[in-house]
Amino acid sequence: MSGVTVRAPAKVNLQLAVGAPRPDGYHDLINVFHAVSLCDDVHAAPADGVTVSVEGPRPGAPAPEVPLDGTNLAVRAAHALAEHVGLPAEVHLTIRKRIPVAGGMAGGSADAAAALLACDALWGTGLPRDELEELAAGLGADVPFALAGGTAVGVGRGDRLTPVLGRGQFHWVFAIAEGGLSTPAVYAECDRLRGAAAGEVTPEPDEALMTALRRGDAKALGRALSNDLQDAALALRPALAQTLAAGVEHGALGAVVSGSGPTCAFLVATPEAGLDLAVALSALGLCRDVKRASGPVPGARLVEDGAAAGRGGRTDRA
Ligand code: C5P
Repeated sequence: MSGVTVRAPAKVNLQLAVGAPRPDGYHDLINVFHAVSLCDDVHAAPADGVTVSVEGPRPGAPAPEVPLDGTNLAVRAAHALAEHVGLPAEVHLTIRKRIPVAGGMAGGSADAAAALLACDALWGTGLPRDELEELAAGLGADVPFALAGGTAVGVGRGDRLTPVLGRGQFHWVFAIAEGGLSTPAVYAECDRLRGAAAGEVTPEPDEALMTALRRGDAKALGRALSNDLQDAALALRPALAQTLAAGVEHGALGAVVSGSGPTCAFLVATPEAGLDLAVALSALGLCRDVKRASGPVPGARLVEDGAAAGRGGRTDRA
C-alpha cells in the first residue's frame, strides 16, 4: 500500500492537578503525562481532498464510534498542516483504533499527532519540530504530549511540556468502561463539586511522585497516583468506584481514573501481576474490556508499513 503509517501512544495521567477555570474555557493544570504501549496507527495515502476511515483493533473488527466529519481530530490536523504550509489538503487517513474512544486516554489527541507526522511525511513538508509542536498545541491540550511521548509534566493548559527523566518501565492494566465520558462535562462537574472554592484552587506539583519516577519505584508511584478529576468522574459514573476497589483488592500497587475517565488505570509490579489482575477484572465483568500495557514509550513515530493500518472500515468525506 502506498503512503506512510504513524503510530501514536495513549497516555495515563500520573498526577492531574486541576486549578481554577480560565476565561478561555480551560483549566490551569499540573499534568504528569505518561505514554503507554497502547497505540493507534494512522495511515496517510494520496487522495483528492481529505477523507478518513476508521477500523477497530483487528482487521475486520467493527470501527469504534469516531466522528468521520471535519470534527475528527486527525482530519483537523491534516487541514491545519496544509494551511500552515500553503499546500492543498489531499490525503486519505485510515485510523486503526486501539485506544478507547472518549476513555480519558487521549486517543483523539494521539490520532491528531499521528496525522500531523504522517501528512508531514506524505507531503514532504519537513516541518521543523517546534512548528509541529505549535500546530499540535493548536489542535488540543493533550496533542503536544502525544508527539513527545515518554513521561512529561505539562503546565498551563497541560500543553507546555517538560520531560521527566525517570528510570525503568512500569506495567499497567486498564479497565475500559462501556461508553465514554465527555471531557468538558467532567471538568464542569469538578468545578461544580468544588463550589465557591473552584476559582481559588492552585495546582501543586507532587514531590513524592517525582521522586518515585526518578527512582523507578513502582510501589511509591502507586501510592502517589492522583487525579483531581476522579471525584467528578465517579460522580458521573458511580460504578467506577467498584472497578477501582476491585483492582486494589486484586493486587494493584495503585489505582486511578485516567484523565477524565471512564478508563481506570492500575499500576502493577510485574507483567505477570498484570496478567493476574487482567484475568480477575475480566472475570468480575465490571468493564467492557481489559488491556495491559507498559510505559514510558516514545511519542508519535513512523512505522514500517508491514503493520500498516490498512484500508476499509467506515469511510466518509470530511
Ligand atoms: O484540549 P482539548 O480540546 O482536548 O480539551 C477538551 C476539553 O477539556 C476542553 O474543551 C475543556 O473543556 C477541557 N479542558 C480544560 N482544561 C484543560 C484541558 C482541557 O478545561 N487544561
